[in-house]
Amino acid sequence: MTDSIRFLMCSPNHYDVDYVINPWMEGNIHKSSRDRAVEQWQKLHHILKEYSLVDLVEPQPGWPDMVFTANAGLVLGKNVVLSRFLHKERQGEEPHFKKWFEDGGYTVYELPKDLPFEGAGDALLDREGRWLWAGYGFRSELDSHPYLAKWLDIEVVSLRLIDERFYHLDTCFCPLTGGYLLYYPAAFDSYSNRLIEMRVAPEKRIALEEADAVNFACNAVNIDRTVVMNKASDALKQRLAGVGFDVIETPLTEFLKAGGAAKCLTLRVTEPVRTELHANVLVESRVIRMEGHLLDSGLISRALDLIVENGGSFQVLNFQLGEQRQSTSNAQVKVSAPSHDVMEEIMTQLIDLGAVALPQELCDTNLEPVIQDGVAPDDFYVTTIYPTEVRIQCEWVKVQNQRMDGAIAVTHTPNGPVARCKVLRDLKVGEQVVVGVEGIRTVRKTESREQRNAPSEFTFMGSGVSSERRVELVVEQIAWEMRQIRDQGGKVVVTAGPVVIHTGGSQHLARLIKEGYVQALLGGNAIAVHDIEQALMGTSLGVDMQRGVPVRGGHRHHLKVINLIRRCGSIAAAVEQGVLTQGVMYECVRNHVPFSLAGSIRDDGPLPDTQMDLIKAQAEYAKLLEGTDLILMLSSMLHSIGVGNMTPAGVKMVCVDINPSVVTKLSDRGSVESIGVVTDVGLFLSLLVQQLEKLTSPYQQAV
Ligand SMILES: NC(=O)c1ccc[n+]([C@@H]2O[C@H](COP(=O)([O-])OP(=O)(O)OC[C@H]3O[C@@H](n4cnc5c(N)ncnc54)[C@H](O)[C@@H]3O)[C@@H](O)[C@H]2O)c1
Repeated sequence: MTDSIRFLMCSPNHYDVDYVINPWMEGNIHKSSRDRAVEQWQKLHHILKEYSLVDLVEPQPGWPDMVFTANAGLVLGKNVVLSRFLHKERQGEEPHFKKWFEDGGYTVYELPKDLPFEGAGDALLDREGRWLWAGYGFRSELDSHPYLAKWLDIEVVSLRLIDERFYHLDTCFCPLTGGYLLYYPAAFDSYSNRLIEMRVAPEKRIALEEADAVNFACNAVNIDRTVVMNKASDALKQRLAGVGFDVIETPLTEFLKAGGAAKCLTLRVTEPVRTELHANVLVESRVIRMEGHLLDSGLISRALDLIVENGGSFQVLNFQLGEQRQSTSNAQVKVSAPSHDVMEEIMTQLIDLGAVALPQELCDTNLEPVIQDGVAPDDFYVTTIYPTEVRIQCEWVKVQNQRMDGAIAVTHTPNGPVARCKVLRDLKVGEQVVVGVEGIRTVRKTESREQRNAPSEFTFMGSGVSSERRVELVVEQIAWEMRQIRDQGGKVVVTAGPVVIHTGGSQHLARLIKEGYVQALLGGNAIAVHDIEQALMGTSLGVDMQRGVPVRGGHRHHLKVINLIRRCGSIAAAVEQGVLTQGVMYECVRNHVPFSLAGSIRDDGPLPDTQMDLIKAQAEYAKLLEGTDLILMLSSMLHSIGVGNMTPAGVKMVCVDINPSVVTKLSDRGSVESIGVVTDVGLFLSLLVQQLEKLTSPYQQAV
């Protein structure tokens, strides 16, 4: 027996499964045998007494789970943080445990009333005493961890539980002597697994299979080189023996019915303090403010879900519900995250949803200077497609040139501060760049319930991927929209890949250009090469477009064409010289529709018009996209994604591709203005031209 080690236990005189507060209890109400429970508990008690001293707390009628003393509190030295149970079914245990600790001369710390923390069930000391592993996700709140660090003067490593069967940390995690760790990785999110792997060397990690985990092998009591548990597989016993641990199995099946085993039934009350180590907690908290139709647009639940999905936790500090149907609500939410990095990730996504990090009275967003051309400061804020504003000199300043994946550069001019989205390579030494997440907001349109539900001409533009059945209807609506834009002098940009030509779409796209429906064309070398090949030789990639069969020697056609255009000097020159007389590129030249062909590694030739300097090509694309009302993205993943990234929210986007995943990727930008059409692009273009023929302009009608 080791005198210096003491445990607290509580006999199961009043133990039963009386209610359901975890998945193990389901179906087990009043199904446990009191006699068998007493017998199993006594065996455990007996084993532990051989290795340590065991104190007992008086069981109380009406509090059947008091037998699980691990949840009394967390002890370190003579300090104890008393549990604050999440469920009212266990809250009545608190005063009894408090009295026991006080009688024992412990200093008892109590958490705020609404901050759940379930003691040593969710907080386990590294057996070398180097830090405290603390769990959250089901029973204990992340916000309790800074209190543990402060009161117990110890470093706290927060781990998020994600499998409700393993609702307390001690059900799936057991630090062992010598820095070993017995655990079930699938019970934790990936970030927590990374934290575990960073702290515990691979040879010290003993990861359990599910079969051992559900037998509560992690819910073990470790005293020196002995591990006491309900049950272990032979493989686990061997693994533990291999690193010098003896396993003692003692059946605790009656307690498993309530979701507990050896560790839950004990609380180690002699935990030595390492005085050379001190408090450290990585948990960060911030308060955000959200405003809008938070409930009926689902915005608040999306925000809260994303906090939890990303490993954080939240507390709604206040929520003011708009009283009228059209009035907006606002909420203040405290967001906590286990580390600075996780907090930044969560905050960036919350800002996309329109949240503002408080304090609102903040006068200036955080800025750091660029100290190397083309390189942003580490913590720079990465922009999105949404209109963004930043706080400078106590004013919200709109960010210009909004695009995603850029940084925000702030310069001061005689007319006041200017904030601009810039791609990294354009940053210049001396510019100030927005860092962190404070003083940044994205401006979302607040739509009332009526506006959202009202049928508008653009209802089909609700983000979504259409099935084949919907294609005709969708094309009809796109045609209507394109006609509107043309008649009102608006701008449609087409981005197209060579599949447009292979699928017979060339004549239709040429016609759209000729009839004034397209104001700019963006693509690569291939669309132009294959279009010109078809115009000059009747083939596309060597396939006869009339008969659909390959032509002998046809694979050389496109190179001949490239050579010919190179001889002419440019596509426009080929048109001027009468060499090129039809097709998509011909119509662009004839109708003064600007085009930009961005080069790629796949390009043959290239054509003299293809811009092989990609930085210049991106700039040409960006220029042609300015002021666009609608972008028609036709079967080019490469160019469509490129265009998508440089387009701010608010521009309507139609993405046509045969591959649903490409369409989903492009239309799923969280923007209501985008739609995906999964279909053959040749068919789409022919339907579009047919629909446009049927339409008569509302203006022409009026005349
Ligand atoms: N000879 C050449 O110079 C040459 C030839 C081919 C490609 N390229 C270049 O390579 C780059 C990438 O080419 P890309 O944009 O064609 O390729 P990509 O892979 O980026 O996109 C092609 C897209 O077309 C879709 N698609 C295929 N069949 C379809 C159909 N029937 N209907 C609708 N969608 C369909 C695919 O799902 C895919 O998303 C471009 O810059 C291009 O110019 C050059």
